Amino acid sequence: MATLKLGVLGSGSGSNMQSIVDAIEKGELDAEVKLVLADVPDAKILDRAKRHGIPCRYLDCAPWKTKLEGPAEDECIRLLKEAGCDTVILAGFMRIVKPALLAAFPMRVLNIHPALLPAFPGVHSWTQALDYGCKVAGVTVHFVDAGTDSGPIIVQKCVPVMEDDTPETLHARIQVQEHIAFPEALRHLAAGRLRVEGRRVVISGPQG
Ligand code: GAR
Repeated sequence: MATLKLGVLGSGSGSNMQSIVDAIEKGELDAEVKLVLADVPDAKILDRAKRHGIPCRYLDCAPWKTKLEGPAEDECIRLLKEAGCDTVILAGFMRIVKPALLAAFPMRVLNIHPALLPAFPGVHSWTQALDYGCKVAGVTVHFVDAGTDSGPIIVQKCVPVMEDDTPETLHARIQVQEHIAFPEALRHLAAGRLRVEGRRVVISGPQG
């Protein structure tokens, strides 16, 4: 049986989930995706899950627009537990998760954020980096805590910002690194190599 039993929450294309599924299928990550939930009914992440035979469904989160709370949060936790998930992956999930989910999966909720945190939390971080005039941008995979994009950092990757970048070209460059960073963070988790000491995540053994 796989070491990590993943529940994936997403809102969009699901390319990060795809990178995780690809790593599993190539034997590079000891994990199984047990369930994919999307808060957007026609999110492409659901099509990707179906193509790989992964159980998936739409989670109706209305009327809460930017948070996962209330009955939808209860339902989400119930579905994840029922599917046997022990780790929750926020893969482009555009809602803030609240303490009940974090308490149900203590230090087992991971998020990917398209910026070098603590710079540019929130939405459209690549546009924020571009508008700010940054020369480097990047991606962060971190444990989720009660704040917004504020939990202990597991993996970060940098990309250069080019003179002629548009928000789209910069985001595309960041996404290439996202697809390396998320499987890498999960490999460390699966191997039991992560130790959280306050804000710091100490990685023992090989770093890649
Ligand atoms: C990714 O760039 C991810 O970092 C970002 O949404 C995109 C989802 O892409 N997440 C956030 O902005 C969270 N605050 P995907 O659906 O193709 O994985």
